[in-house]
Amino acid sequence: MNLLAIETSCDETAAAVIAETGDPAKPWRLKSNVVASQDAIHREWGGVVPELASRQHLRDVCGVVDRALDQASVGWTDIGAVAVTQGPGLLGSLLVGVSFAKSIAWSRGIPLVPVHHLAGHIESLVLHHGELALPAAVLVVSGGHTSLYFIREPGRYELIGRTRDDAAGEAYDKVARLLGLGYPGGPIIDRLAREGNDRAYSFPVSRLTHADRNQPRATAPAGLLPPELARRVDFSFSGLKTAVMRVVQVRAAELAPRDVADIAASFQRVVVEALLDRTFEAAGWLEARSVGLAGGVSANSRLRADAEARGAKAGLPVFVPPLSLSTDNAAMIGAAGLRRLRAGVTADWDLNAEASLSL
Ligand code: KG4
Ligand code: ZN
Repeated sequence: MNLLAIETSCDETAAAVIAETGDPAKPWRLKSNVVASQDAIHREWGGVVPELASRQHLRDVCGVVDRALDQASVGWTDIGAVAVTQGPGLLGSLLVGVSFAKSIAWSRGIPLVPVHHLAGHIESLVLHHGELALPAAVLVVSGGHTSLYFIREPGRYELIGRTRDDAAGEAYDKVARLLGLGYPGGPIIDRLAREGNDRAYSFPVSRLTHADRNQPRATAPAGLLPPELARRVDFSFSGLKTAVMRVVQVRAAELAPRDVADIAASFQRVVVEALLDRTFEAAGWLEARSVGLAGGVSANSRLRADAEARGAKAGLPVFVPPLSLSTDNAAMIGAAGLRRLRAGVTADWDLNAEASLSL
């Protein structure tokens, strides 16, 4: 069975065709994966402008879906189901994909499968590598999310840690903007950091203790982790961003390219350490048999290299998606869609896009 998947939650219009293999260990095969990026449009504004994003999705969605069918060498009659990102994301953007997918499913008389964007990022790992050894600890780290999941059975994702403020990708984008580097900032900082000294600045790593009684409770469900650790696996990046801002403000006039590279490298070291410390600590405690990293920031070269090194030291296999599946795409939505379809989940015709949706 071929499934057509559509993703329009943020600023990429994406469509893909995924087929089932019949092999339980590697259940899906990618037939096509088409992404129309809007980076060039939003770059001018230094970030995603929601109104421009939804209008561009409208222009692009037909052509992107046509190309996905073409590249997979399939026609409409070969498609047995449609999966679409229902949320979370920008409402106007999501609506384009949801309406388009609904129209296809209704007119062809085939099932419509609603998919959570983060389930898509997680299943990108299974699409590429096959089923993960469970239980697994998977960190989804993107422009909108920094969320750590514990997976005990396929298709069930337990949230055990998340950011309390900025997502890691958002911190990359904001710091890049402070340094006048352009958008999106992640790949630019990644590249620059290779030439910088990552110890030149000691930026603070925030450790959430929730000791203050005004702080919200830890994210992990009660009893899963010891209370101390449960508190530690939440993330916070806004203090780090402010620390970088102070350095930039104080030294604005005298910042040479060398200093910018040092700031990028020092910032990146702190982010990567914070992400991996918590992920591996939780994985160890939970006796995970594998660790996964997914989402746009999992494209980061240092995060990948350091995760590999920590995995090797801990005797834990580490999985990351190939670059084409780490930033937003529809192939991952297709994978999560087939998982849900086989679990019996389909949507009614009143399916609506949801800007915030829990997994
Ligand atoms: O998953 P994604 O495409 O979209 C969301 O769901 O948010 O992630 C986009 C984010 C952006 O913040 C971008 O700066 C970041 O991923 N990113 C990176 C790298 N490539 C993309 N961050 C760090 N290093 C990279 N190489
Ligand atoms: Zn994403």
